Amino acid sequence: MKPEKVIIYGATGKLGSGIASRLSSWFPLKNLLLSGRNPQKLQELEALLQSESKIGKISVFTKDLVSTAQREENRQEINHELGEDFHPDLVIFALGNHVKTVKGGVPRKFRDVFTVNGLVPLEESYYWSGKMKKGLIVFFSDAMLSNPLRDYSAYYCAKAALEQMTKLLAFELAPQIRVNAIAPGIMNLKSKAASDAKTRWSSQVPLGRLGGEDKIYRALKYMISEDYLSGEILRIDGALHTNNFLSI
Ligand SMILES: NC(=O)c1ccc[n+]([C@@H]2O[C@H](COP(=O)([O-])OP(=O)(O)OC[C@H]3O[C@@H](n4cnc5c(N)ncnc54)[C@H](OP(=O)(O)O)[C@@H]3O)[C@@H](O)[C@H]2O)c1
Repeated sequence: MKPEKVIIYGATGKLGSGIASRLSSWFPLKNLLLSGRNPQKLQELEALLQSESKIGKISVFTKDLVSTAQREENRQEINHELGEDFHPDLVIFALGNHVKTVKGGVPRKFRDVFTVNGLVPLEESYYWSGKMKKGLIVFFSDAMLSNPLRDYSAYYCAKAALEQMTKLLAFELAPQIRVNAIAPGIMNLKSKAASDAKTRWSSQVPLGRLGGEDKIYRALKYMISEDYLSGEILRIDGALHTNNFLSI
């Protein structure tokens, strides 16, 4: 498929912004909708895309999607700006928040982490699938779901729900709409990570090295172009998910 009308949730993130730039160089887009929370980052991305690529129309939507009211407003604003008959053909959920939810902690925090990583993509995919005529929905899971880190239960529960939704929606929305997920492995170590972290983490990856954004973009391009691929969770993780003896 050659997408023309694209929505990216989490467009201000590392992967979301990279995807926005790649997509506009791969395909002549008519509409690119960028949804994020940080207005400054959204403006900078919009300016960059406008200067570097030819996109018919770029629209930005700034909302904190943890809030049910703001999710509703986000949809209304999109419909208002693009019109009720706007039918996206590619919707990408690159939003997320990889944070701990310690046991005994504030229930509100658990709910917020679950919401941004799980409920938002679940609800919004349901909404957009009713508007799409054909195309592809892409979720972002996490290959560490097979070897979860301690104290990230809200995050991993959300990713597990997304993987299940990938299969359910692929079945329900076929043959017009395909649904897939990308599960990145270990890529970006935080700047405050210990100096030996890269060596320690790499040793846990059967292929012996950490991943990188370009591998994710290539997977996405394949996912878009292969029209017989649906209901799949593509793990781009150097076989990390096969290692059940993680000892870090
Ligand atoms: N990068 C990795 O190594 C990796 C590994 C495994 C899985 N993943 C998954 O891949 C996806 C993208 O990862 P990433 O590294 O690009 O993440 P990131 O850089 O942290 O970006 C996260 C995005 O989510 C948005 N977001 C967070 N909370 C939000 C909220 N309450 N309302 C609206 N938007 C919100 C952020 O918006 P603002 O910036 O505007 O606040 C940002 O656009 C995530 O689902 C992540 O779990 C990534």
